[in-house]
Amino acid sequence: MTTPTSSVQATSAANTIAQFASDVRYYMMLEPRQLPSRYLYDPLGSALFDAICWLPWYEITRAERRLLGAHAADVFRCVPSLSTIVELGPGSGQKLRMLIEGGDSHRLPVDVHLVDVSHDALTRSTQTLASLAGVRTITHEQTYEAGLEAVAARAPDQGRTLVVFLGSNIGNFDPPDAHAFCRAIRAALAPGDALLLGADLIKPERQLLLAYDDPLGVTAAFNRNLLMRINRELAGNFVIEHFAHRAIWNPSAARVEMRLVADSRQHVSIARAQIEFDMSADEPIWTESSYKYEAGDVERMLNAASFRLNTHWTDETAQFALFLVDAV
Ligand code: AVI
Repeated sequence: MTTPTSSVQATSAANTIAQFASDVRYYMMLEPRQLPSRYLYDPLGSALFDAICWLPWYEITRAERRLLGAHAADVFRCVPSLSTIVELGPGSGQKLRMLIEGGDSHRLPVDVHLVDVSHDALTRSTQTLASLAGVRTITHEQTYEAGLEAVAARAPDQGRTLVVFLGSNIGNFDPPDAHAFCRAIRAALAPGDALLLGADLIKPERQLLLAYDDPLGVTAAFNRNLLMRINRELAGNFVIEHFAHRAIWNPSAARVEMRLVADSRQHVSIARAQIEFDMSADEPIWTESSYKYEAGDVERMLNAASFRLNTHWTDETAQFALFLVDAV
């Protein structure tokens, strides 16, 4: 029997496939061909990303954990009377748990809002936080923007709100979108509220390329899985072994670009996206940009969105930074 809930889920799943098909149709016909990086995260893609975070060459996760471990209490000291935390993209919830546990001696009971389009991420992060005393979790299975609006609509009368956006996820936005996203975060906050943002810094090219083209081939699998996803969900015919993973550092744009490069001429058909085309040998599909920053660039972007720097902490080994800024 179909319950009202399951029919709603079925409709939104159909919408998601329709959106995926329409994005693939649009982006694959651009020059150069592209695919939005948000589609890298189906269940296998998310598992491969979790594996990437364990790789010795991908230092973002470990560096951020070191900083959170060292400075959690400082975050709570710098944002007194904190009553609400909003995490955008909580993943497993482990980093937020570290933050809350580290700030234990400073904190009051908090409402924690977890925002993610992934039901699985919300379930995992809720479980991770479940045993923390004085923490009430509220989940929002929505885009970050919609989740921020929902949280703003029920802002507490008392206490401050801290938005947490970690993992250098900001780096996967092109600069105009990153600026607009910082403004959207600010629009959901009141003066005195705060944002904790993790951002990966520019480092030597060799280090960046090992992080995005690791010797174990995990990042290559993460990238190529996007073609498997298209084959499965949109009835595509990509022959996966004919597409090689490439990561290049583009210094003028300060970003690592991930591509999938055809090793020979390929005839591609994606039935549910209603497209068919030929790719020449060496033709790339651009699947992700991962921007790297100078600390000053991040500060300028946050200032332009009406935040003011409270503090920033840098991990010298990995060249990664956490920015704590106040809404003004
Ligand atoms: C999720 N995001 C911040 C990762 C990054 O570093 O851009 C995704 C990733 N792509 C390749 N490796 C990891």
